[in-house]
Amino acid sequence: MPVSIRPLHPMFVGEVAGIDCRRPLNHDEVAAIEAGMDRYAVLVIREQFITDEEQLAFTRQFGELEAYRTPGHIRRREEQRLGPGMADFSNLDKSGNVMPADDRVWFFKLADRLWHSDSSFRPVPAKYSLLSARVLPSWGGNTEFADMRAAYDALDTRTKAEVEGLVCLHSLAYSRAAIGFTELSEEEMAAFEPVRQRLVRSHPVTGRKSLFLSAHAGAIEGWTIPEARMFLRDLTEHATQPDFVYSHVWRPGDIVIWDNRQTMHRARRFDDRNEIRDMRRTTLAGDMPTIEQAA
Ligand SMILES: [Fe+2]
Repeated sequence: MPVSIRPLHPMFVGEVAGIDCRRPLNHDEVAAIEAGMDRYAVLVIREQFITDEEQLAFTRQFGELEAYRTPGHIRRREEQRLGPGMADFSNLDKSGNVMPADDRVWFFKLADRLWHSDSSFRPVPAKYSLLSARVLPSWGGNTEFADMRAAYDALDTRTKAEVEGLVCLHSLAYSRAAIGFTELSEEEMAAFEPVRQRLVRSHPVTGRKSLFLSAHAGAIEGWTIPEARMFLRDLTEHATQPDFVYSHVWRPGDIVIWDNRQTMHRARRFDDRNEIRDMRRTTLAGDMPTIEQAA
């Protein structure tokens, strides 16, 4: 059966039929998914009950995995539940128990409920993220996506001119501070050194412009902090208005792939004290710093 994609939202997001993520894809299937990502920015694939190894192999068909070192104070390798390349977006500790509410690893995860683009705090931010639903809570826990191309297109002419050349500073420290989590070690602060990102970026294939916003953005070069924060908040409210947002209601076996270069996303609440939500992410590296792209 050939790959087909049907829209789930008037502006973006498609649902893919006709692929099995557990098996290697042929050239046409990879091309169909890539073309779908360029057009829809978010793709949903249902009923993919995959292992971590299968998820890694599936992901690698679309590029290089993102590789980076997480500061040791957040969570050491030996304390992690999943193997290399798999990012743990569950509320579980290494033994499979629900994390205590005051666990600082949990504090780091909580801020993912703010609108963001994955790895916007790295010099080369992420291309695709792939999230696989392994265990779902009975209530809540949706993931919402916002189309940042639509957000850019809908700006008025004056604001478009204003954002065009702006460079923002992104850091994990900004997004964690936004929820009041500021107890970071010196090692963490050094690792969270802000990086520069263009506020307007263009897609390498389609050329479409989008707003590169994220909760990790905390400053604009040449602006005072209060002016920058207020403008970024205004833009984020504009970009996440209901018309530009799709809310994904997870089903067991869902895989959702999103393009961090064209979208923002956020996790939503669930009963994280009494229920398990086990989501596993693989992430593809971007190709270049946004700052190097042509203005
Ligand atoms: Fe994320």
